[in-house]
Amino acid sequence: MSAPELITITVDGRPVQVPKGTGLVEAAAAAGIEIPVFCYEPRIGSAVGACRMCLVEIEGMPKLQTGCTTPARDGMVVHTARTSETAAQGQNATIEFLLLNHPLDCPVCDKGGECPLQDLSFRYGPGKTRMTFRKRSLEKPIPISPTIALDRERCILCYRCTRFSQEVAEDEELVAVNRGALTMIATFEDEPYRGPFSGNIVELCPVGALTSTQYRFLARPWEYERAASVCGLCAIGCNITVQSREGRVQRVLSRNHPEVDRGWLCDKGRFSSPHLYAEERIDSPRRYRDGAEEELGWDEALAELESLIGEAQGEVVLALSGTETLEVAYSLAAIVRRGARSDGVVLPEPALDALDPYRVPLSALAAAEEIVVFEESPVLERAPVVDLWLKLARRNGARLTTIGPAGEIQRAPGDAARACRELAGETSELGQRLRKAERVILIWSGRGGAGGAHLAVLARALGLHEKDGSGALYLPSTPNPRGVAEAWEAAADEPSHQPEQIGLLLVSGDEAANDPAIRKLAERAHRAVALTLFAGDTASWADLVLPATSYLEGEGTMRNLEGRLQRLRRAAAAPIRPELSWLAELGERLGVALPASVTGVFAELSAKALDDISFSSLGDRAPLPARTKPGPVEAPEPEAPPAVRGGPLELIRYRALFSGPVVEHVPQLAFQRPLPEVEISAEDADRRAIADGDEVVVRSTGISVRLRARINAALRPGSVRIAAEHCSELAPGVQVSRP
Ligand code: SF4
Ligand code: FES
Repeated sequence: MSAPELITITVDGRPVQVPKGTGLVEAAAAAGIEIPVFCYEPRIGSAVGACRMCLVEIEGMPKLQTGCTTPARDGMVVHTARTSETAAQGQNATIEFLLLNHPLDCPVCDKGGECPLQDLSFRYGPGKTRMTFRKRSLEKPIPISPTIALDRERCILCYRCTRFSQEVAEDEELVAVNRGALTMIATFEDEPYRGPFSGNIVELCPVGALTSTQYRFLARPWEYERAASVCGLCAIGCNITVQSREGRVQRVLSRNHPEVDRGWLCDKGRFSSPHLYAEERIDSPRRYRDGAEEELGWDEALAELESLIGEAQGEVVLALSGTETLEVAYSLAAIVRRGARSDGVVLPEPALDALDPYRVPLSALAAAEEIVVFEESPVLERAPVVDLWLKLARRNGARLTTIGPAGEIQRAPGDAARACRELAGETSELGQRLRKAERVILIWSGRGGAGGAHLAVLARALGLHEKDGSGALYLPSTPNPRGVAEAWEAAADEPSHQPEQIGLLLVSGDEAANDPAIRKLAERAHRAVALTLFAGDTASWADLVLPATSYLEGEGTMRNLEGRLQRLRRAAAAPIRPELSWLAELGERLGVALPASVTGVFAELSAKALDDISFSSLGDRAPLPARTKPGPVEAPEPEAPPAVRGGPLELIRYRALFSGPVVEHVPQLAFQRPLPEVEISAEDADRRAIADGDEVVVRSTGISVRLRARINAALRPGSVRIAAEHCSELAPGVQVSRP
């Protein structure tokens, strides 16, 4: 790419060189001068010039111009309010106008203390009002969803929120109704704002018109302690700032990592902190014996666990959720591998290193030419912010091809591996386009197993390791599967023992504890121990339950889907003993030396598996590790998906974004939970005389559930799709009929 042409402009007497086409706001910033803005926010699209806060004087132009919509031109001489009386008057008048109807309720407004309107009024505004008549008052607050309240009097009509909804999330759920002075922000047809990214509008609003219902009237911004952490709820690991007061988390805000999240969060990441304070949370160990529950002190609990491990005589299996930090996974693995001398493990995903030669930051999607998504689970449900990157890519002109049961190229569920292999060898139109394109990104959002290896075969055939801005991404269904697998490997010890039966099953995390496959193992196990946040129904299958900490309560690291090693920071006081502390004590009882601090565990792990990097060198914005050299990839020969049994329609079961143990303990997110629906193709619906919205019965051998039919025109005939929580008992083949 050739270097951009540079032009020179002068801002308040300071000459500055910027690339041609740069806007005046950025050009002035490059000269170290601020042009204040309200409506301008480059992440939500081009400038709209709605608020007039950015007025500047430009020599040779008769009237003041908006800095946000004016591109810098060579030789331009610009004066901001610092040096131009006219610009200062213009901005002063703008603020006066914005405040005509804006209530001066800063003392009770949640935005107070972090409000751009408050700050800019102070710096550029008139200082006193000339208003003598009553301000407009409107009904308030209007709940536009259970998580967001709208206070219309405060709105300055900058359209940041509606532009986010229309141009970033593309959900079109937020609109401006009426015209002129009566314009108001509203949800489409007054339905709740259900979009999974809705919370971003609270942060984007430059006044207190949109506030979070979880945070209203709780505290002032200056009272908070802030922790620069990462979200631990999916494999993206969006960067977040967690704000807490008196040890209690009050809110989670975005912390822009331009390569990972671009400053956006999904509502699961933003609004989930109340799970920390859920009633069902356990804060002490408990033992279940003969139908009775008994609370234990930590000494007793560790003695019990020590004796359970001893009794199992090496037949110990550890089931990990993929929600653990590397450090907790490492300490658990060390207990099992070195303490119990067992190699028994159930990992959430198999090894995921085949794609390391094709590493690429998520931000590369924004500049991609061709993107191919192998999609069986919707990307939005598995890695929501990736969906925003895909939308941005499409707006920027990328060609996006989805391959899967509801893709443009339709393939049966479980057939992505063969599609991948065909694309690697074939000379179809798509294959040729991919070979010719400069920037190609492949994404796997299909079944686990060898998906990463199949994608690596295709990436290699397309030569993506030699093309800058090209790469391949595997979207796992848990937050840190790569990290926990690394930790397990690093804790290996000789001699080892592969258990033949399960004397003791150690289940780490609520996800594993709720996983039907793990529950089947628990039934086979002689004894079971669970490490969870919530008691759930552990009493029915575990002998001992130990309380776990949440991703908001502990220090540690997680490896995200791009391969970044990101640091989590403790943002809240955990009501329980941290895992690393009691695991070190348990280690001592079993003769395994384990550090009790995160820095100690990380140092040990790092010496074995992370090139000896130090914990303190992990910054607030993790870099992407360098690509490794591509070598031959071992991927199993892809086979046709097995015939389904139980019924003529194949069931695609996906894990919905707003599901899982954390979301289930956040009442405000209940409205986002997946509806009891079955997606069915138009052809299959027609054949059964089913209309959209009809109640239907979905059955497989001996089991039936009643769901609403939703006709999905993109879905391949022969498949139906249901969120896992509504079809947990159904077999892979189902019948769908009217009741
Ligand atoms: Fe958390 Fe994933 Fe949502 Fe980001 S997209 S906020 S990592 S759940
Ligand atoms: Fe330029 Fe709003 S920031 S008009």
